Amino acid sequence: MTPPTGDERAVTRRDQNQAPARGTRGAGPEGAPPGARKGPAAPAAAAAPTDDVTKVAPPAPGATVRKSAPAAPKPPVPAAFPPPELRAECEALVARYPERQAALIPVLHLAQRRLGGWISPELEAGIAAWLGVPDQHVRGVLTFYTMFNTKPVGRHHVQVCRTLSCWLRGSKDLLGAIERKTGLRPGQTDAERKFTVTEVECLGLCEVAPALFVNDDAHVNLTPAAVEKLLDGCK
Ligand code: FES
Repeated sequence: MTPPTGDERAVTRRDQNQAPARGTRGAGPEGAPPGARKGPAAPAAAAAPTDDVTKVAPPAPGATVRKSAPAAPKPPVPAAFPPPELRAECEALVARYPERQAALIPVLHLAQRRLGGWISPELEAGIAAWLGVPDQHVRGVLTFYTMFNTKPVGRHHVQVCRTLSCWLRGSKDLLGAIERKTGLRPGQTDAERKFTVTEVECLGLCEVAPALFVNDDAHVNLTPAAVEKLLDGCK
């Protein structure tokens, strides 16, 4: 047998002194090659941890396991609805339909127009309670129709149609003109709350596309120059 060179001896000594790599079998009788002589048994390590992963005992059968979950948000306190100034109009709307729930969309329109331009969570809950409609149903209506605002909007809410007819007739150019004039892109409101810009689906004005609404007023057959003039007139 060829005696080990100086380099090999150095490697052997270093290996014996090194701690075993994590997850590998360490030096000693278990890790020795087959046929290697066993030396005297090493004293057992006194409860030395062999792994730094904390082991958690599985729950006993039938035990209750409690998972920490974030606290559910509190539902909003319903606003008193209708306020005195809207009571007569709301009652008149409800009287038009065989069931009061059917007046939901007209009542939402009225509330949005007269109570600040958007439907707050408290107002939403108040309308649901007054009409006897489940909260989830009101939420579904509010989030389905783009004409309802669930966040505060500027005094002039510019809603640009982005559906096919308007898109083919240049609605993107209208948005460019709006951005040049106001610095706003769709979904944004300026710091003074003068303008909010929104992209919406078909406004039902396809034959006179491109079209947009500013609050409740429709504007049709628009060009970028016409839009800039329109915005100049918004005070
Ligand atoms: S596609 Fe714009 S109004 Fe219909």
